[in-house]
Amino acid sequence: MKWWQDAVFYQIYPRSFGAAKTLDGTGDLTGITCRLDYLSDLGIDALWICPVFQSPQVDHGYDVSDYRAIDPIFGSLRDLDDLVAQAHLRGIKVVLDVVPSHTSNQHEWFENAINHGPGSAARHRYLFLDGTEPPTDVQSSFGGSAWTRVTEADGSAGQWYFHMHDAHQPDLNWAEPSVLEDFEGIYAFWLDRGIDGFRIDVADHLTKDVSRNDVATGKELLEHGSKSRTHEVLRSLRTLADSYPRDIALVGEVGAEGPELELYVRPDELPMVFNFPFMHAGWNAERLRQTINDALRLRELTGVTPTWVTDSHDEPRSPSRYSSDRRRGARRARAMALVLLSLPGVPFIYQGQELGLPNVDDIPEELLQDPIWERSGHTNRGRDGCRVPLPWSGNAPAFGFFGAQVRPSSPRRRTAKPWLPQPPWFADYAVSAQLENDDSNLALFARLLALRREHVGLRRGTLTWLESTNEVLAFERQCDSDVISVIVNLSDHDVPLPPGEIVARSWSGPDADGKLAPDSAVWIRPAALDRSPAVAKT
Ligand code: NOJ
Repeated sequence: MKWWQDAVFYQIYPRSFGAAKTLDGTGDLTGITCRLDYLSDLGIDALWICPVFQSPQVDHGYDVSDYRAIDPIFGSLRDLDDLVAQAHLRGIKVVLDVVPSHTSNQHEWFENAINHGPGSAARHRYLFLDGTEPPTDVQSSFGGSAWTRVTEADGSAGQWYFHMHDAHQPDLNWAEPSVLEDFEGIYAFWLDRGIDGFRIDVADHLTKDVSRNDVATGKELLEHGSKSRTHEVLRSLRTLADSYPRDIALVGEVGAEGPELELYVRPDELPMVFNFPFMHAGWNAERLRQTINDALRLRELTGVTPTWVTDSHDEPRSPSRYSSDRRRGARRARAMALVLLSLPGVPFIYQGQELGLPNVDDIPEELLQDPIWERSGHTNRGRDGCRVPLPWSGNAPAFGFFGAQVRPSSPRRRTAKPWLPQPPWFADYAVSAQLENDDSNLALFARLLALRREHVGLRRGTLTWLESTNEVLAFERQCDSDVISVIVNLSDHDVPLPPGEIVARSWSGPDADGKLAPDSAVWIRPAALDRSPAVAKT
């Protein structure tokens, strides 16, 4: 078994995790290194770090201007090497986030494309078309036209380039062989430095026919078919990863579904993709059951490792999605932690999820930073609400986000402001407060992660559905004699629990004698003699 096949990944959004050396508003690499003991105590196995490469930061790192350099706001290559070495000392792997579908418009490749003019080899590396109007009506996924016109070297209005996202993120032309050659060099550069794998941004967005005008969105232009060059490119990355003597984790962000998805997750291509249907199933037993079954079926079909994710830097935080009532959303998110960490395969925890952070929905409009806000003509507030810098200490300035390595007495440390404002109620969720409380969200995650390590059934066991009503999720994980039943009540009434020893539960109030209250979940070691029916019909 490869190390990543049952690892628990923790996603770091470096702008918002923690700062050590800097006071300019964003987190940095040393801020992660300083807090590795926190992550190690939490019990995770691997980090996925969102892009830290040199970038103008228009899309906060997903607009890369040099794939082999670290952006100075995050530190230096040395800081990254140090982070990797320190993580490895604690048995934690490090996966970087590479963005192959588009670059920043400040990347040297794009600057060459502009300078060398229409018809040049440099321009052929991006997706340029002629016209007096945008060549097609396709909309960018951040809003507005997916085309922007350049001014040619002689000052005339020039060609148009295609961008699936912001205008500062021109899409590369993956039909051009030199693009693949360059990326192979980039992947090798990081693998040679000891990185343990890659998360591949919009991995299915590589090839598209941008001349088509019969679709409305960039997503509809994507070519998923088995003969698509995207598959060829991903397979070449896989071959490169397999040429290293250690196991390299690859996880792709793929939006395709059904048979098209199956073409990506294959033994010779991507061994893991994010499970977006699971994330979008919300607090709904039937949809969750369906997405779990679909992922397990895909595993059977292709041998890939299922992933489980409810939160990320692109989605409102799950407690806020599960209910508009804050208490109920919090209860449900705690219950979902028992699902996330008990399914076969690889769970991803997004920074702050372990703290139970709700989304911040009231950032003042003038402080919003996501390019989606501007591009949507101020109709979509974008993703800032789930990216607010983490609260480490309830009573420190900026909740302890800044300057682990800056003198506490430094006046600037006291007045430094995070890049997005933290609401006053973040104090209740601070790490310092949660470490003191055995019933905190953080304590729950740490307990569940420790149990997951202890129980081979939870990590590697089979999954069998147990009899239950529609609004209850009930399944058993078993490996030899290690058996754990997972029962989640998504209904609005109590349901009876089967006999057995409760090894973990999502709520922190008193036990309701043999019953599972709504919006809660348990892990049970079933009583040896009577394990069926596990959940009585109500
Ligand atoms: C997906 C990333 O998760 C998102 O944050 C980013 O804006 C787009 N890809 C564009 O790179």
